[in-house]
Amino acid sequence: AAVVEYTWDVENFRVERLCNEHVVTAVNGTIPGPAINVREGDTVIIHVRNKSPYNVTLHWHGIFQLGSQWSDGPEYVTQCPIAPAGTYTYKFTITGQEGTLWWHAHSSFLRANIYGSLIIRPRLGHSYPYPRVYQEVPILLGEWWNGNVEDIGNNATQGLVPQTSDAYTINGFPGDLYNNTCSTQQTYRLKVKQGKRYLLRIINAALNEQHFFKIANHSFTVVAIDAGYTRPYKTDVIVLAPGQTVDAIISTNQRVGSYYMAFTQYKSSAVQNNNSTTRAVLVYEGASQSLAPIMPDLPDQTDTPTAHKFYTNITGLAGGPHWIPVPRTVDENMFVTFGIALTPCDLPGPGACIPLAGSNVLLSASMNNESFVLPKGRGSSMLEAFYRNNASGVYTKDFPSQPPFVFNYTDPSLASGSNLLSFAPKSTKAKTLKFNSTVQVVLQNTAILGTENHPIHIHGFNFYVLAQGFGNYNATVDESKFNFVNPQVRNTISAPVGGWAVIRFRADNPGIWLVHCHLENHLPWGLAMSFEVENGPTPSTRLPAPPVNLPKC
Ligand code: C2O
Repeated sequence: AAVVEYTWDVENFRVERLCNEHVVTAVNGTIPGPAINVREGDTVIIHVRNKSPYNVTLHWHGIFQLGSQWSDGPEYVTQCPIAPAGTYTYKFTITGQEGTLWWHAHSSFLRANIYGSLIIRPRLGHSYPYPRVYQEVPILLGEWWNGNVEDIGNNATQGLVPQTSDAYTINGFPGDLYNNTCSTQQTYRLKVKQGKRYLLRIINAALNEQHFFKIANHSFTVVAIDAGYTRPYKTDVIVLAPGQTVDAIISTNQRVGSYYMAFTQYKSSAVQNNNSTTRAVLVYEGASQSLAPIMPDLPDQTDTPTAHKFYTNITGLAGGPHWIPVPRTVDENMFVTFGIALTPCDLPGPGACIPLAGSNVLLSASMNNESFVLPKGRGSSMLEAFYRNNASGVYTKDFPSQPPFVFNYTDPSLASGSNLLSFAPKSTKAKTLKFNSTVQVVLQNTAILGTENHPIHIHGFNFYVLAQGFGNYNATVDESKFNFVNPQVRNTISAPVGGWAVIRFRADNPGIWLVHCHLENHLPWGLAMSFEVENGPTPSTRLPAPPVNLPKC
């Protein structure tokens, strides 16, 4: 296995987007940042030099970090941020996963421009469990803001109404927005040869939107999601929530020509209001320049049945590379509600909050009625507190395994007790798990302030998705739907709008692991919790000592 080592500079520089120059904070002067291409078993070492004016950390989304917990990256959770002029070295070995992952900043909204692909190929001498492809192409979907993303993130942290982005991007450029000549010049074009197979490694690095993705006249065979192989799944539309990845094969078996590859938002809720569609072009070699590309017929933006079909029909490649059978016994059962709510205004000054129905409020979010706050200003990260074996003053270990009371979670008109959940207390809580215990979590969406899909991401683990559905989870009926044979394996699940998902994982990774909604607006509102996984019995199953250059708070 190889060691792949880079030095990266996080820095401010000027770029042109949408016909204007802007100052952005990103890595090594590019958006997206550098791609990491490795094989399973390789070790990655990234020396980060923070030359920007902001605190920053980097996170390797989907990497287990077993034995390298100090490299996971969420600020104040596994490390204090790298201050301006500071440095830190991330080092981890990739084992037991292949496919497409990505990396991103885990501080404020900086991931808007600080992200890139992390592609894991099989070890030398091993091959993919699908037909050979002619070329592999990363497709990173992102968002562009004309404003300063650090400021936009700070507004969200206060609970103010989120600001929507100015464009969606494909591989860093605003793509081809309808009627926008500024973006058309920068459109990404993928040149292909007729009669070949291409593997698209699609990453939803957008901050706040799920997306439908289609290519005119071409269909996909999905072969992996979140760096885990799937049974080949044929579809003409792909759906991804922020944080998720999809590896899909296309055959260039159409007439020589150009075809739009288009993303449009899947809106699971009426409150999400970015209507734009962004496009890139798939151009066959020899295609005439003068003909306009063919446009795919995209689903309606509110087409939940199409999104749900994609999200639920994919199955894991049982028996394939790195497949681990589903644990059949459960040591820890949790039922976790999550959703958005309002909270009374606590910002000083007149007009600082959101005026709504005669009172001043802020937006907030919670899991099991606890609104998570990062332990900023408490002297250390959660992981350092865990390592010292003294959480006091940093976090508490009483995250509840059940919501405080049972109500009709998904019908706001019937949810009489649910108003109480509008005032979720702010806290920094962890749920303690025994080393190697198996954990099952029912993720239940709530309708306190409307419902929408929330992409729930767990650091440090992949999990099996046993079942998903709409309405209130009902164990007596829904347990019979569990797929123990070939469930999909993910690190981010888009829990259905007004519905539930049941996930299961083995807590074989000691440390502190953040669980959160990957919609960037919702994390600072508190849609998060954390797991504290106890040390195991052997040296290799214990949290190692922190690296010497770990940043101080
Ligand atoms: Cu991709 Cu906690 O994040």
